Amino acid sequence: MTDREAIADLWNQIERLETPELRGVFDADPSRLDKMVMSEAGIRFDFAKTHLTDTSLALFLRLTEAVDFEVKRAAMFAGEAINVTEGRAVEHSAERGEGKAQSVDIARASHARMRTLIDAIEAGALGEIRHVLHVGIGGSALGPDLLVDALAREAGRYDVAIVSNVDGVALEEAFKGFDPRYTLLAVASKTFTTTETMLNANSAIQWMREGGVEDPFGQVVALTAAPEKAMEWGVDETRILGFAESVGGRYSLWSTIGFPAALALGWDGFERLLEGAAAMDRHFRHANPMENVPLRAAFIDQYYARALRCQTRAVFAYDERLRLLPSYLQQLEMESNGKSVKADGTPVYGPTAAITWGGVGTDAQHAVFQLLHQGTHIVPVEFIAVTEAGDALDPAHHEALLVNCFAQGAALMQGRENAADPARAYAGNRPSTTILIEDLTPESLGALIAFYEHRTFANGILMEINSFDQFGVELGKEIAKSIEKNGAKGFDPSTMALIDIALGDI
Ligand code: F6P
Repeated sequence: MTDREAIADLWNQIERLETPELRGVFDADPSRLDKMVMSEAGIRFDFAKTHLTDTSLALFLRLTEAVDFEVKRAAMFAGEAINVTEGRAVEHSAERGEGKAQSVDIARASHARMRTLIDAIEAGALGEIRHVLHVGIGGSALGPDLLVDALAREAGRYDVAIVSNVDGVALEEAFKGFDPRYTLLAVASKTFTTTETMLNANSAIQWMREGGVEDPFGQVVALTAAPEKAMEWGVDETRILGFAESVGGRYSLWSTIGFPAALALGWDGFERLLEGAAAMDRHFRHANPMENVPLRAAFIDQYYARALRCQTRAVFAYDERLRLLPSYLQQLEMESNGKSVKADGTPVYGPTAAITWGGVGTDAQHAVFQLLHQGTHIVPVEFIAVTEAGDALDPAHHEALLVNCFAQGAALMQGRENAADPARAYAGNRPSTTILIEDLTPESLGALIAFYEHRTFANGILMEINSFDQFGVELGKEIAKSIEKNGAKGFDPSTMALIDIALGDI
């Protein structure tokens, strides 16, 4: 058998796996909890209520070997150009201190510049700053937004608004709460060419001018891997915080793109975030496949995608502070692994990334959980909860939150028979994973996000795809530019009519 045939054979075996009955798995294997619950960096990953068994695990471990997981993992940390379609290394872990020595040094130097600028801002070098208006989109907004929303609620150092949408309503809303004289504008764009971000940045400059700021560019910081473009746009070199081209947009919150979080949390908080991520890096980098948490999670993702043909996976944060996690994960997972070809350009075998969706508990219970319990789709669910309460109210709040979270996982698995009244019956046997964090701190959030990054990469390795390009976003951008330049002519009748009705002659 060639290597290729061996991989195809393993996938065939995975697809033909029998689905065990979840209710029986604990009786069948009294050591299931030991085998299927893993702990790393203060986070408990409970995979016990999934259908993964010793048999399927063994097959995935063979697949891991067949696809050279360990070689590919080492290549990423060694700074090799594993993003083959763009000829680039993948070095977000270097931002946390794990990777090629030279890249780690470059990341440290760029963090040192960021720290110096933050100190200067705090010392009043840019005048009195009360508000931070961060404009960026995709990876240049989702990560910072998650960090600020999760960790800086009480820090109270600055009011931070992160604006991504090109819809002016978003920017106007941010303007309402801010005084332009005391606003620092952070323009975050890896390429510094993204249309939405540049339009928002230009409108923010105009708002500052109209608000009486004589030199608005004096209150601008650029976060980018294209410093020359930021300079061309008007930012002074001393306020351009660069980062390496090898840090992908959706993996960039650790770089200077995390500037608003570093400002809002304070430098110590930002460093603690990096340390938490580095702990997960070291685990992913060195743990053997059997004990590797992100890899185990990827096995489960692949099991549901291939063996049970699940098209979606749902993530519910049972913690208000993590309400932005599902949208952050949507970009991370879907932009990374939503591909149809492998890294070598040949068609991918079977379905790739599941569609990631989700929300916040307990809200989602009263909105979408009906389908999870009784619908015809099987949706692997991921619950994320935090043991320590984030609020200081009556402990009944946090208790109710956790009780509900755990009850949902149990209900999905157990189900309930009701032969007399089928509308009230629950099939059960529905899978879930519970991620339980001791306390939501910069360290634990850093470790959690790094876990998701490595899980995404591990999924990519198993599917043999390049998780680090995103050419699928380009065609729509090109067509939008062409419409802006040449109008509706040449498009299909439906598109032409829409443009004509809503935009007239553009
Ligand atoms: O269009 C997709 C994308 O390229 C993402 O990958 C990226 O995070 C986002 O746009 C923003 O890009 P930039 O940081 O270059 O503005």
